[in-house]
Amino acid sequence: MTARGRAALKTAVWLVALVPLAHLVWGWWTDDLTVNPIEYVTRQLGETAIRLLLATLALTPIRLLFGVSWPITLRRLLGLFAFFYVTLHFAVWIVLDHFFDWRTMGDDIAKRPWITVGVTAFLLLVPLAATSTTGMIKRLGGATWRRLHQLIYVAGVLGVLHYIWLAKKVLVQPWVYAVLLATLLGIRAWATARKLSARWIVLGSRG
Ligand code: HEM
Repeated sequence: MTARGRAALKTAVWLVALVPLAHLVWGWWTDDLTVNPIEYVTRQLGETAIRLLLATLALTPIRLLFGVSWPITLRRLLGLFAFFYVTLHFAVWIVLDHFFDWRTMGDDIAKRPWITVGVTAFLLLVPLAATSTTGMIKRLGGATWRRLHQLIYVAGVLGVLHYIWLAKKVLVQPWVYAVLLATLLGIRAWATARKLSARWIVLGSRG
């Protein structure tokens, strides 16, 4: 893909990823955030975060299945947008839900497992966002950086679990995300298994 094509693609991602935020800002401006604005905003931000997280996780399976590698150039941007929305989601909970009352937040985290799981997912994403620059990849070394960034799978699983749990297992939507995530992880596992078995065959034929 040409440099111009890549730039156009990234601009498109910026525009699409900012739509949910623009929608919320517009809703606030026109006083149209439903009768329970805090809950509405929290849910919209959470929903956007999980979608972007899954989109980030979909890029490698797309390469594995269809042999196209250009979507990989969007991985960092999509991952950072996912982190941006999770941070806003968390910030709304801290500022608007709890008004910085650290004691009630601590109680909430300790007593409601779906909150514990959400906070853990957020904390796992922090080092990934912090090491997303090219400079950090060089400083950590490719192998260590890749190993660290595998935490995104755990964060994805915990993010979906958070949704399933808070929805008390009755909503369909979180299960749709769970199936999507399982499919994406399954494709990666299948590719890894194939690579390993090919290596064993080569080693076996040598020995
Ligand atoms: C990777 C991290 C996270 C992801 C992917 C995520 C995702 C989601 C999703 C998809 C929803 C449901 C949206 C809907 O109903 O349409 C949600 C709801 C919610 N999340 Fe998170 N979340 C994360 C972290 C957190 C954290 C750190 C907190 C706060 C400690 C939190 C607090 C909440 C709350 C209060 C709700 C609304 C529950 C309700 O409907 O009453 N989440 N989140």
